[in-house]
Amino acid sequence: MQAREEASQAPAAPGSLKHRHLLGLSTYDEEEIGCILHTARYFRSVLRRAIPRVPPMRGVTVANLFFEPSTRTRISFELAEKRLSADPVNFSVSGSSVSKGETLKDTALNIEAMKVNVVVIRHKSPGAAIFLTRCIDSVVINAGDGAHEHPTQALLDLLTLTDIHPSLEGRNISIIGDIAHSRVARSNIYGLQALGAQVTLCAPGTMTPVGVEDMGVRVTNRLDEALEGCDVAMALRVQLERQGALLFPGVREYHARYGITLKHMERHPDLRIMHPGPVNRGVELASEVVDHERAVILDQVTNGVAARMAVLYLLAGPKEELAS
Ligand code: CP
Repeated sequence: MQAREEASQAPAAPGSLKHRHLLGLSTYDEEEIGCILHTARYFRSVLRRAIPRVPPMRGVTVANLFFEPSTRTRISFELAEKRLSADPVNFSVSGSSVSKGETLKDTALNIEAMKVNVVVIRHKSPGAAIFLTRCIDSVVINAGDGAHEHPTQALLDLLTLTDIHPSLEGRNISIIGDIAHSRVARSNIYGLQALGAQVTLCAPGTMTPVGVEDMGVRVTNRLDEALEGCDVAMALRVQLERQGALLFPGVREYHARYGITLKHMERHPDLRIMHPGPVNRGVELASEVVDHERAVILDQVTNGVAARMAVLYLLAGPKEELAS
């Protein structure tokens, strides 16, 4: 039924967004986010076809520049490009001339000189995607820049959330974990607030950025408080690789205070669980919670392909309509 409904809805047209790039969700409003989600639902119907491919981005070349490791984002961007009939080219640091000292700017300029149209970039430095827009003419899509933003993750999260609760107006969403290092948290705060949700952040004091209350979120360091009245809990990965020194006594202590367990799932029978991945099983989520029927973690991954197809199509697709 859902598939039929989605198939009957034509996607928004390329050029419908006010933006030329997707650098973050902080500047995207409810209308633009709604347009992307609507288009993603259309592409989800394409992905359910026997041959899950459409032609609108034939002749468009997309360079996927991954300066940091990735499984979900890298593969789903490449799949999204192939499903739209674009030509993906993939760059990863290992085996590239970055090891010879080539800068980000020169790397991008040289790849663009081979006539690419869109650059997808993941980089450890906050602002790397914004920097690229000043160096090259291609459409730039941020696939995660340090602790700044990860807008396509938030869009696939919003797509997943609106499958559960079609309107997010007044819904309570709690983001739990390593907020200080999380680009996912930041993009989700912007996206959730644009769609009217109430956001609660829950983390140890050492993982809570100073002044984050100014973003209009509720902040607590008590997990029980964050789960009370919560519709969906987004657990975040503890990013051990971005911490200079451990920000909590140990992994066992972290799990005891902030890990969501079966006991929480029993206490909150309507609670849904999300996680952007990769999950540290037994740290932010008990292993049984990762596999729980109310966890939608793999739905998030599935939705990543349609959400990224929508972003690519709207920012860099042809100006004529896609025949359904
Ligand atoms: N959620 C996410 O960005 O996962 P990857 O690092 O595997 O891309």
